[in-house]
Amino acid sequence: MEQQEYIKVRNSQINYYRDIPLYYQTGVASYALYKPAGIRVSQLRIKQQRHPSLYIEQQDRICAIQELQKGFNQYISESIKNGDAVSVKATLCDLVEETLSEPRAGTLKVLPETVDRLVSGYSQHPEILKAFASMSFKDYTTVIHSVNVMALTLGFCFYSNISLKETKKLGLSALLHDVGKTEIPLSILKSPRRLTAEEFKIMRSHPTIGHVIIREKNKLGGNVALGALEHHEKLDGSGYPRGTRNISYVGQLLGIIDCYEALTNEDRPYRRAKQPLETLKFLKEDVESGKFNRKIFEKFCYSLI
Ligand SMILES: [Fe+2]
Ligand SMILES: [Fe+2]
Repeated sequence: MEQQEYIKVRNSQINYYRDIPLYYQTGVASYALYKPAGIRVSQLRIKQQRHPSLYIEQQDRICAIQELQKGFNQYISESIKNGDAVSVKATLCDLVEETLSEPRAGTLKVLPETVDRLVSGYSQHPEILKAFASMSFKDYTTVIHSVNVMALTLGFCFYSNISLKETKKLGLSALLHDVGKTEIPLSILKSPRRLTAEEFKIMRSHPTIGHVIIREKNKLGGNVALGALEHHEKLDGSGYPRGTRNISYVGQLLGIIDCYEALTNEDRPYRRAKQPLETLKFLKEDVESGKFNRKIFEKFCYSLI
């Protein structure tokens, strides 16, 4: 008989599981049911850590991610209401991380609701997302970068009086712009040195991969996929993957915000992160040389104040 595989659940996530059965280990490769579907592990038990290490069955993985996403979404709304920006961001990063672990399985579909909740929360508590992008986390990852780009994009949309409906779409595009990086080897993504020509080529395939994941695997609307495909294109044709000068609005906007976020946050051994003002001066050179849209860039600068 084929051996059933079990995956360990993070302690901080146990309270989110209701419809998924949880198991505990009874021997080297044997597990027993700890709680059936339909009930939760009690809060008290979780708080006092009166439970063994818990596991889910491999076959429940996608359902488990969906259940986690539901719980995270609710928690995000509550944290926004309580003005708890740190919890909102930490939960959002957890949510995006879980979601990106299986992006080809259709798990991205829950993210529109997350962005809806953030946008609604932002209009009531604008201070929360203002603090978002500048809040730093120890380990800078694609997840944190994506959440930061989304926060900056929402800030831009609110500053520019873009409709709530459009703001939600742009926010979602921002959150997913680098989803293609989930398929780039970590050795390239986290390389402590400059990439070789071959590695660069692989790295530069992430917009095309992202476009496929969003459109074909998750059936999310055109603009979201376009943001992923075009955020590295430049108006003078020097970008990638297509080198086109004809770039959608979302592609142009995300191109600017993506660069700004990466330059201000990404600290690499061969390159230090830059200060915001220094970064804007640097990007302005790209505006002057015809790479970025001047109007969008200027609005973005104002939206940061
Ligand atoms: Fe990118
Ligand atoms: Fe990016």
